[in-house]
Amino acid sequence: MKQDMIIILDLGSNDNTNLAREIRALGIYSEIYPHDITQTELETLPNVKGIIIYGGPNNIVGGEPIRVGNHICESDYPIMAIEYKSDNNCSDGHCVEYPTWESAAPHLKSFIFDTCKATANWNMKNFVADQAELIRRHVGDKKVLLALSGGVDSSVVASLLIKAIGSDQLVCVHVNTGLMRKGESEYVVDVFGKLLESNLIYVDATDRILDKLEGIADPEEKRKIIGTEFIRIFEEEARHLSSTEAISFLAQGTIYPDVVESGTKTAKAVKSHHNVALPEDIQFALVEPLRQLFKDEVRACGLELGLPDELVFRQPFPGPGLGVRCLGAITRERLEVVRESDAILREEFKLAGLDKKVWQYFTAVPDFKSVGVRNHTRTYDYTVILRAVNTIDAMTATIEEIEWPILKRITDRILAEVKNVNRVCYDLSPKPIATIEWE
Ligand code: XMP
Repeated sequence: MKQDMIIILDLGSNDNTNLAREIRALGIYSEIYPHDITQTELETLPNVKGIIIYGGPNNIVGGEPIRVGNHICESDYPIMAIEYKSDNNCSDGHCVEYPTWESAAPHLKSFIFDTCKATANWNMKNFVADQAELIRRHVGDKKVLLALSGGVDSSVVASLLIKAIGSDQLVCVHVNTGLMRKGESEYVVDVFGKLLESNLIYVDATDRILDKLEGIADPEEKRKIIGTEFIRIFEEEARHLSSTEAISFLAQGTIYPDVVESGTKTAKAVKSHHNVALPEDIQFALVEPLRQLFKDEVRACGLELGLPDELVFRQPFPGPGLGVRCLGAITRERLEVVRESDAILREEFKLAGLDKKVWQYFTAVPDFKSVGVRNHTRTYDYTVILRAVNTIDAMTATIEEIEWPILKRITDRILAEVKNVNRVCYDLSPKPIATIEWE
């Protein structure tokens, strides 16, 4: 990597990622490393221009504050210590200390540019060029396998790999779980089929997955079945492929929050992120070119690679797909109601310009019916629930206050166009107390 880097040593502060983001926003690449990084590890990192030791209130383990190794303080790198009292041997002038983040923040820019003499060369053009080069060196002339869901991350990985090694060396598997949004799988096949041709394998697992889910009402059990079945199908395809041609690498769309949230040595794991689990009998090496990127950077990378805006800026979509929005035991009939009503909601949000404003919006359909009347005749049909939320990190969420005429138009269209529906409701519950998804 040719880009200058400031490293942040992780002493358990929750603000490490914010700090890394702030530094990257200045055009300088920044990464978080464990506080006990060894001398050798440090020396192998390219273009390190300076080190930030970020202490903070969590910097206590077993009643004792965590210390960084002497080799850090004794190194020649400029060091900024925030909320961290360094040892004597750190105070020879190359280490500046600030008792709080507030006192350090005004000096951050001059520390990076004047003290560390870092050059602002972190941008997506350079990132793409660096990664393409790294992938080429890592993969050589071997084949790479990728599970392509159509989400932003896997799409950007696919596109980066095509740029780096070409479509002949890349095999993508798109599994249609039967729980995709309307037109989703067709869209993936359309966008990537052109780029990958015969190296895009489309697996329609609709029947297999929906049959497995039949009669299963418990949300966790549903999630487990969908996740397990997806991995099985992917494994089967991988096994089948590797029996006909050697595939040495598996690419994944792991991104930086996945890496950080899965736990560092000092920070507690927020949640474990399971990317595609590897079958034990197939030995793949991993290719994870987005490991260092935050979500907005992944999007910028996608744009740099020429992916269409509508793909790059799609809203998040849960792994179990519409399966967690067709509440209770999934039926094909109700799944169609979810899919069609979701398509109308998305269409109307786009027309109203809300697709650029609202973080996530979708419909959910409960597993009960209610009484209505249509053309003077009693009906007994499903209810569609509309949901539209705003959030920064999905940990908490507020409700989008959609204008009445838009809500009314969406309601009218769903009642007129979607079969088996006689009622539309708008969910006003924030997270917490509710979660964003219904299951
Ligand atoms: P909740 O419902 O927990 O959701 O408030 C928070 C965010 O996560 C998304 N979500 C998922 N994303 N796999 C994912 O990739 C999943 O299994 C999953 N479940 C929920 C949800 O859509 C929301 O954006």
